[in-house]
Parts: sequence; structure tokens; C-alpha cells
Amino acid sequence: MPFVGRQRELRQLTAALSRPPVVILIEGEAGVGKTRLLHELAGHPMLIGRCHPMRFPYGPIVEALRDTCPPADLNPVTGALRPFLPEFAQLLPPAPPPLPDPQVERHRLFRAVLSLLGSLQPITLVVEDAHWVDPGTRQLLAFLARCLPEAVNLVVTYRAEDLAHPVAELLAHLPPHIDHAELALAPLDAGETALLAGHLLPEPRDLWPLTRGVPFAVEELARMLAEGREPGTPPALRDAVLLKLGSLPLAARRLVQAAAVLPEPTGQRTLTAVAGVPPEQGERGLAEAVRRGLLWESPPGRYGLRQPLTRQALCDSITPAARRRLNRRIDGPPQPQGTLSPREEQVVRLAADGLTNREIAEDLFLSPRTVEVHVANALRKLGLSSRRQLRTT
Ligand SMILES: Nc1ncnc2c1ncn2[C@@H]1O[C@H](COP(=O)(O)OP(=O)(O)OP(=O)(O)O)[C@@H](O)[C@H]1O
Ligand SMILES: [Mg+2]
Repeated sequence: MPFVGRQRELRQLTAALSRPPVVILIEGEAGVGKTRLLHELAGHPMLIGRCHPMRFPYGPIVEALRDTCPPADLNPVTGALRPFLPEFAQLLPPAPPPLPDPQVERHRLFRAVLSLLGSLQPITLVVEDAHWVDPGTRQLLAFLARCLPEAVNLVVTYRAEDLAHPVAELLAHLPPHIDHAELALAPLDAGETALLAGHLLPEPRDLWPLTRGVPFAVEELARMLAEGREPGTPPALRDAVLLKLGSLPLAARRLVQAAAVLPEPTGQRTLTAVAGVPPEQGERGLAEAVRRGLLWESPPGRYGLRQPLTRQALCDSITPAARRRLNRRIDGPPQPQGTLSPREEQVVRLAADGLTNREIAEDLFLSPRTVEVHVANALRKLGLSSRRQLRTT
């Protein structure tokens, strides 16, 4: 598929890589084109290793090094890599004897990687998907970044929304002779999206509103349309989004599901009310859903799905009972009159939806006994004698 846009980023990267040693961080959401950008770099010898969701110890480093062809006369320390690289163990010096202290042993291993990279220079070590970095590789990268040989670069790609540890720590305490650069890849704009879609579809279609310019989404949507299918959540996106949804705290999950059911982006208060999340948890939940890239704030003050193509998968993840509750709250819940406290209002709304005290308790993260008290107080304030009357209030 022809490469679209990104000329500025390519120039920036090329310039940075041609001034080794440099540490480069490339950040961008899933499918935005980090890997593709690197593939477009011509003339820079690279060793590429990917981190894996299973976080195999030193997985990306082993992957990057296993296809190399090491020169003769390697530093004896590189023998420490023999057990990690059986593919060319016979080309490495003999393995040094084990050391009693694991920390010392680890330092020797790090020096071995450094020395092997030095013997392969000029070279760029690329570690992809560092949001899944294992602890060993994380430490190794911090070590390498600070002592890169003169013709070795380090490039690290990652998705900020899936990051557990700050990758920017790699840039901390770099010695003055080691340069650094950070590149944030934004989605394609409407024109670039149209260009990409033009390569994928026989007729022009505006795919930007549904894909927001994420090339992976553009490709997947174009495939669906080319096959004559209704635009829905592509399977590859569905699995990723459901996995992410499952990893969110309950309040954030509910907010995302509410946003999936609402046709338009809405303000925090409405979204929180529709989701049935207590306001004090709404703020934190919203921040988390935005940080994890499931929701975004656009236009300002309004929250909606970050990736519209995920709507179908998110809607399908809602149980029928929860869907009924969401719809009732969207359709305009019976507004209790009188001087109810905000908590009583919440409880009354749910009781009016037909929820039992136990269900309300679960919904609002309260004890059933507390709910019972709120319901009794609210009924008294509203001058009602039974909760059934709430439904017609
Ligand atoms: N600028 C572009 N022009 C054309 N196609 C692109 C462009 N950027 C990305 N693509 C295509 O979009 C798809 C996703 O891109 P890529 O795999 O590089 O994303 P990524 O940011 O590495 O995602 P992930 O975080 O999942 O690794 C690929 O098929 C890629 O070829
Ligand atoms: Mg990638």
C-alpha cells in the first residue's frame, strides 16, 4: 500500500538518525503508523525487536539480535549472550562462568549487549511496542541509552494509552554527547485519509468521520466496504477494544458503554448520569477512559468515543438489562421533585427504573442498607407511600 503523508516526520527521523548516538521515542495510538513510518526509513541499518503482551524477559532484545551476523574478534563479554542466542552461539566467545550475584551477572549481560551492538555499528536498535516492555528490557534500555556507542542509535515506539511505566525515563540523565528526540504521531488529516482511502476503494468515500484518520481503521473499514459489508467494528479492532474495556475500572467502563449508546458527544454531567455512575467517581472514570484512548473530549467539554468504529463492539458488550437501564436514563428519567439530596436523586432515579435495592447498591457502590435508608427518606420527602409510585412520578 502506498505511503501517505508523514513527510515532515520522515525528515525529522532521518535527520536525527544521521547524528548518532541518539535516543528517539516515537509515540502514537494503536494503528496510527509507527511501524510503517520506520519501514519507510531507507538506508538506515536496523535491528528490530518487539515487546509482546506476555512480556517475555528480554524478548525484544533477543528478537532484534538473533538475526545478526556477528563479526569475528568479539569482546569475550559477549559470550554471556550464548544462552540467549542459540541461533549463532557458536560464533560467540565461550560463555563466561556464572557469577554468584545475580545483579553482577545482569550487569555483565547488559555489557554483552552493548558490546555486540558496538561491533555491529553503524546500527539502530529499534524496540517496538514498549508499552509491553518487560522489566529486564526496561532496565537494559535505560542502561544502553546512557552508554550508546558512537554509531549506535536507539529507537523506542509505544502507545501512551497502554503505557504502565513512563518511557520518557529513558531520556533522563543522558550524557551530553547522546542526543534525543521525541516524535508524536497524530492520525492522518481528512485529505490524507481520503488519499489512503482512494488507494483502497474503487470510488471516493469519506472515511475520516468513522476512522478519525487512523490508518489501520481506514484499511479495515475500506476492506469492509469493499466486501459490501455494513460498516461495523472490524474484528481486529473489536478484540483490542474489548480487552481494553475489560481492564478499566467499573466506573470508567460504564462511562464508555454509555458513550457508545449516546448518539452524540455529551457533557460530563449527562454522561455520568446516563452511565449511572456517582459524580465523584465519574470524574476519575472519565479521566481514565480518556487516558486509555477509549473516549476523547471533542468538542471541548463534550465526551464521545475516541474511535467511532468501536461503537458496535462496545454496544454489543452491554448486557440487555444494563442496556434497558441506559436507555431509560437516556429517554429522560422521571425527575423527582422536592429537596432530595444528590444521592437520593440518584437512588430514586434507579428505583424508578425498576431496580431493586440490591441492584441500586451495586450500581452506586453503596451497601443495600444505605440504599434502603435513601429510598425511605426520598419517599418521605416526595410524599409518596410506595416505591412503585416513583415510576409514575
Ligand atoms: N502513512 C501511511 N500511509 C499508508 N498506510 C499507512 C500509513 N501509516 C500506517 N499505514 C498502514 O496502517 C496500518 C497500521 O499501521 P502500523 O502497523 O504502522 O501502526 P502502529 O502505529 O505500528 O500500530 P500498533 O501500535 O498496533 O503497533 C498498516 O497496515 C500500515 O501499513
Ligand atoms: Mg506497530
